[in-house]
Amino acid sequence: MEDAPITAVIVGGGHRSIIYADYALKHPEQLKIVGIADPNPERRAMAAARYGFSADMCFENAETLARLPKLADAVINGTMDHQHYATAVPLLERGYDMLLEKPFAVNKEEMDALYDVIRRHGNKVMVCHVLRYAPFYLAVKKVLLTGAIGDILNIQTVEHVSYHHLSTSYVRGKWANSDKCKTTMLLAKSCHDIDIMMWMMQPTRPQAVSSFGSRFQFRPENAPEGAGTRCTVDCPYVDTCRYSSKRLYMDFPERWKCYVWEDLEHIQNPSDSDREKSFANGNPYDRCIYKCDNNVVDHQSVLVRFENGATGTHNMVGGSAVSMRRIHIIGTKGEIDGVFDEDFFKVRLIDPASPTGYTEETVRMEGDLEEGHGGGDDALTEDFVRYLATGKQSVSCTAIENSIAGHLTVFMADASMAQGGAPQTMDLSRYV
Ligand SMILES: NC(=O)c1ccc[n+]([C@@H]2O[C@H](COP(=O)([O-])OP(=O)(O)OC[C@H]3O[C@@H](n4cnc5c(N)ncnc54)[C@H](O)[C@@H]3O)[C@@H](O)[C@H]2O)c1
Repeated sequence: MEDAPITAVIVGGGHRSIIYADYALKHPEQLKIVGIADPNPERRAMAAARYGFSADMCFENAETLARLPKLADAVINGTMDHQHYATAVPLLERGYDMLLEKPFAVNKEEMDALYDVIRRHGNKVMVCHVLRYAPFYLAVKKVLLTGAIGDILNIQTVEHVSYHHLSTSYVRGKWANSDKCKTTMLLAKSCHDIDIMMWMMQPTRPQAVSSFGSRFQFRPENAPEGAGTRCTVDCPYVDTCRYSSKRLYMDFPERWKCYVWEDLEHIQNPSDSDREKSFANGNPYDRCIYKCDNNVVDHQSVLVRFENGATGTHNMVGGSAVSMRRIHIIGTKGEIDGVFDEDFFKVRLIDPASPTGYTEETVRMEGDLEEGHGGGDDALTEDFVRYLATGKQSVSCTAIENSIAGHLTVFMADASMAQGGAPQTMDLSRYV
């Protein structure tokens, strides 16, 4: 690392940006946050106090910042999905390097245009595919790189999204209606898993994809007889429905609090009465789960064919009792099988001399699973800083060119689902 810390301006000072920016508080010798651009004055003031910069480094939005001469090495772009492209382009043209939240684009047209801007200006841009940095997935990748399991013929990834997470993000919350948020559930949620699949399969690349999915549960016709429109206001099932906002959020106020109680962000320690008032005043998380404006799927399956003939599947299932991510990779000499949330995986190697027919080793992670994305959040920021300081890409590096195959696969999977599962072919030749 160089002596002076990398300097960065936060663009979109919401929940995610602050997680990455806080790396500067732990490692001030590596990263210094010097400003913020965000239309929300409370978030600007909070960031100025937290990172110790003055009011003249607070800007109304990305566009205002981009009109000024370059003020820092980089930008941490944590705006919402549909704003990534529009906020990123003028800042990249101004010469900033960028840590950019996923999805870095919400369709192929945006992806191609963004890629071209980056190629033209030579910016270093890393996408926040934090799972590549989680010790679990990194250890799986390292086993693959040893060649122990041979050539991969099939890869299976699974993501279960718990019922309360589904409710919070994909039925009542910010990613429930694709007309508003411009993302699908596969893009918002499982672009991580599809990225992991692409990363594990390198150097082969995806060639064709097919997908099915549906909005299975939360439709008005599935509401119980006599259900109200708001759980705590007019619903007789408030104490019994599995998705009652009282039971999900009021009784467990820490659960998804950054989304559910966003309107109380300005209050240091909100009380039950503050929360009751928030629900009474139209908080969207109090809406009947069956009577929201959700139009995204709650489950989707994706089937991928790779250039070398290997295949992969991803199953995204929302509404499970617990959240869970699983990966199972089958090679010509053995296999890797593990559950991210259990923090260990097994490596089984074909062994005709063994009575079972195989040998098995369990690889356990050390560290704190409670850390953001199993430790991935901090490790990604550290790698971003290193990438900027040295120009060297690590094995996990999610530079834009490394993140294209995953995003394109998601766009094509959604196109396939919209056409009843019709296979879509992919051409990655324009991305070098
Ligand atoms: N990597 C991950 O694992 C992960 C996890 C969750 C969310 N995300 C992604 O992170 C992103 C941010 O999510 P969040 O929940 O932190 O969002 P948020 O709504 O809390 O923050 C977005 C911020 O952008 C600001 N903003 C709006 N327009 C702006 C503009 N023109 N210029 C500058 N700022 C502007 C808003 O005022 C807001 O403060 C989303 O794209 C989301 O999908 C990633």
